[in-house]
Amino acid sequence: MNRGQFSSKFGFIMAATGAAVGLGNIWGFPTQVASNGGAAFVFAYLVLAFFLAYPALMAELIVGRYARANAVKALPMLTDSPALKLGGKLVGIAGLITVAVILSFYAIVAGWMFAYALAPLLKLVGLEQYAHWLTDFGVVRNLIFTSLFMIATILIICGGVSAGIERWSKRLMPTLVLILLLLIGYMLTLPGAMEGLKVYLVPDFSLLLDSSLLVSALGQAFFSLSLGVGCMLIYGSYMSSDENIVRVGAWVTLIDVGLAFVAGLLIIPAMYVAQHYGVEIFDKSGVLLKEDTLIFTVLPSLFEQMGEIGVFVGMAFFLLMSLAALTSSISLLEVPVSYVIESEKLDRNKASWLIGSAITGLSFILIFNFDQLFGLVIAITTRYSQPLLGLFFCLYAGWVWQRNKALSEIKKGNEHAEYGIFWKIWPVYVRFVCPVFILAMFFHAL
Ligand code: TRP
Repeated sequence: MNRGQFSSKFGFIMAATGAAVGLGNIWGFPTQVASNGGAAFVFAYLVLAFFLAYPALMAELIVGRYARANAVKALPMLTDSPALKLGGKLVGIAGLITVAVILSFYAIVAGWMFAYALAPLLKLVGLEQYAHWLTDFGVVRNLIFTSLFMIATILIICGGVSAGIERWSKRLMPTLVLILLLLIGYMLTLPGAMEGLKVYLVPDFSLLLDSSLLVSALGQAFFSLSLGVGCMLIYGSYMSSDENIVRVGAWVTLIDVGLAFVAGLLIIPAMYVAQHYGVEIFDKSGVLLKEDTLIFTVLPSLFEQMGEIGVFVGMAFFLLMSLAALTSSISLLEVPVSYVIESEKLDRNKASWLIGSAITGLSFILIFNFDQLFGLVIAITTRYSQPLLGLFFCLYAGWVWQRNKALSEIKKGNEHAEYGIFWKIWPVYVRFVCPVFILAMFFHAL
């Protein structure tokens, strides 16, 4: 069968960072920092991202490029044992279910971004009332904007790998970085910003003993790098064999973690600026109000301070966020779609619409039962499923797969890999360090 492939190294890095960078960085990470002790969380996150999530990312990329197949097929290919083949298949299927659930809540938040991008436009032309409808939390608005976002995702996925995923990611990612930096520069001149900066950068290390902080940070790192569900595995399967996979993976990690850090640099101080101007951020006992919608309160109040130009800045920001969400949501939808295409022999268009609609249905269930389900579903998928499934990917890459096969895959595009530092460390990491630490953290938390 004719499989798609990314056309260049830059294209791959942009597509994979496009998948990694999204709501997780700019909505998820700062919100978690704000509700989990500020700089201590930032510290835990950085350590866990580089030392546990990066090796797990490499496991997925390498296995994916070797197998050139979706996770359900790829994991069984690593072994001859029937029992382990079955195990691998089950891990792949658990990943498919997890990814569908993740996309169902992701599309809701992405829909909010869409709505917030449109609102200033309506205000500008005098349709205040409708603008309020867009920014007020309502079931109908949620249904409409979630659906719009899902339709956009489906249309890109219909386009396939290089025309759809790659072309979009290449243009959008750099623009987003630029606007973030400009916003930070502006925000740091406002009153209250320095207090926020301190909360963000000066850790209270005693908080690190809190096991729920560590589990949250690990979940956040796995979510942000899109691990545990076969998403990076499928992107690896589209990567050309000429590329130095180790270096490419490192770039993706650096950019993703760097962007989360930069987003925090914007959002956390912005919270304190907003507070300075009278917006309620914490309740009397210091607990964060309205976690899920935090940035939707904080940022608009920041844009308002900017006067007229704030309207355009706000619009640009939320538009770019919608687009960043789109380069991630396509990676989420690609996982089940590629599975159905490869294993059930459906054509790409049919598969995209079929699965896309089913997941939109799942989103609707969440919207109708928002208070009961939304937070719960996020916690189960990101804090538990992702790291646990990531653990199995590591076990398969480290224990089940033959070492020399992994090495020869890495050596494609990097002849001297054998003597490099990566090959000295990574095998030990996926065999021992990642599994032990992930498990230890869970037991500690229970
Ligand atoms: N990492 C993306 C973000 O931070 C979301 C994402 C894309 C994802 N693909 C994934 C999360 C696969 C988990 C699994 O917004």
